[in-house]
Amino acid sequence: MQIHVLGAGAGGGFPQWNCNCPNCDGLRKGTIKAKRRTQSSICVSGDGINWVLFNTSPDILQQIQEFPPLQPARAIRDSGIVGIVLIDAQIDHTTGLLMLREGQVKREIWCTDMVYQDLTTGNPLLNILGHYCGVNHHPIAVDGQTTFEIPGAANLRFTAVALKSAAPPYSPHRNDPHPGDTIGVLIEDTKTGKKCWYSPGLGEIEPHLPPLLEQADCIMVDGTFWTNTEMIDMGLMTKTARSIGHLPQSGEGGMMEALSPYKKARKVLIHINNTNPILREDSAERAELERHGIEVAYDGMDIVL
Ligand code: MLT
Ligand code: MN
Ligand code: ZN
Repeated sequence: MQIHVLGAGAGGGFPQWNCNCPNCDGLRKGTIKAKRRTQSSICVSGDGINWVLFNTSPDILQQIQEFPPLQPARAIRDSGIVGIVLIDAQIDHTTGLLMLREGQVKREIWCTDMVYQDLTTGNPLLNILGHYCGVNHHPIAVDGQTTFEIPGAANLRFTAVALKSAAPPYSPHRNDPHPGDTIGVLIEDTKTGKKCWYSPGLGEIEPHLPPLLEQADCIMVDGTFWTNTEMIDMGLMTKTARSIGHLPQSGEGGMMEALSPYKKARKVLIHINNTNPILREDSAERAELERHGIEVAYDGMDIVL
């Protein structure tokens, strides 16, 4: 299977339009060693021709322009994207859908009932798309048993599980978390048997996760924050990383520690917030990740399993 990182940044991207944190300011001025990153999305293919898009970032048009395999020319209107999987209903993972409204063929969208509810009520993107291309919604079960396939996505099979988190601010059940508000997905190549775990939003290693992570040849997980109080320390937010569903990399029980049992897998952090020091390629924090065998995703990164 081929995995292509379309956007490795968290909400806001890097640099963020209104942010003057040391990273964003330093990137604009060219005084730090770091790469720009668009907002959170990957695409996956089992045959190199037909691709499944995971999340639809506000930067999707730029991301498609920069990755020609998503634009094959088999018909007057055509795309290499055969299906879209949404892992939550957050702005950075869904608003790009409005940019994919053209055409007579319905968008094929896989998401949980909870995400579908948010995207037809609090943030009714799917209703709006109904006035353009239209949408075929395919529900994702989160029992960890039911697998699903996507017609046209050769050799790929998916298993989703619910992850503990909160629904977005505009969700009708914002303060009442439900299974399926956020999912993690095990992506399997049925031809090679290789597996990739993908969860750009992961607040906690819950007991149902290790059996899935153990199977993975590549673990792509939440790389949002380095410390639990990163946003508080910079005066940018009053909430901790964990409280908004993002396990920080450092500290006791942090992501570096949590990933250490998984020896066979390639470990890659994705959905990296612009405040995170790991974005600086010569930072001590980046060196610490490297010592733990953990990579930092960047836009355009290709992983072949
Ligand atoms: C998150 O990952 O916590 C959200 O997507 C933040 C946002 O984009 O507003
Ligand atoms: Mn996000
Ligand atoms: Zn910033």
